[in-house]
Amino acid sequence: MRDRTETLLSIAARAPVIPVVTIDDPAFAPELAATLVDAGLPVVEVTLRTPRALDAIRAIARQAPEAIVLAGTVVSQSQIGEAMDAGAAALVTPGTSERLADALAAAPIPAMPGCATASEAIALHERGFTVLKFFPAGASGGTAWLRGVAGPLPALRFCPTGGVDATTAADYLACPNVVCVGGTWVTPAKAVAEGDLATIGRLARAAAALPRG
Ligand code: 3PG
Repeated sequence: MRDRTETLLSIAARAPVIPVVTIDDPAFAPELAATLVDAGLPVVEVTLRTPRALDAIRAIARQAPEAIVLAGTVVSQSQIGEAMDAGAAALVTPGTSERLADALAAAPIPAMPGCATASEAIALHERGFTVLKFFPAGASGGTAWLRGVAGPLPALRFCPTGGVDATTAADYLACPNVVCVGGTWVTPAKAVAEGDLATIGRLARAAAALPRG
């Protein structure tokens, strides 16, 4: 687990923001990823919420190799192998059942399991995870929650996602236990659907320039 945690921390260190993308057209995925890389955001999370999401991950892994593609919205054990086969560098979950946590702990690639409470974070730490997605961050206590758990849970690091946007990202990044933040604001659904790379590039450049705490 230690090697996988180191890998995850080095991925999180690549940029302050991980854009979370839900994509219908895998043909657009490599261009989108290359735009994010050029703007300074080399890590992208593709959610497994569309029928072609795995194809989009595969397309990015093959055609935009400078991007680091994560599989997001992993909610079942079967998706772990599928995401790995598609070329995902790591797995992200919005929440984590015991069965899913065991499967992620046994997976050969890193995982950032989701939690929303201190008890969930402790349960994941017991299984060896130290870098967790805090989701949905805005609805679950936001920066107050993160600062609240920093004292009692000093070993844990978080990527808050869900309700994080351009106006709040800097506050999250200023928390001592935040390694990076995630969100869809860099890749709005309308811009993705319209192939609007100019808008995505502009939002991504602003996100890449956010200061870390
Ligand atoms: C996720 O899957 O991480 C969320 O859908 C991102 O939430 P946001 O749209 O509030 O950024």
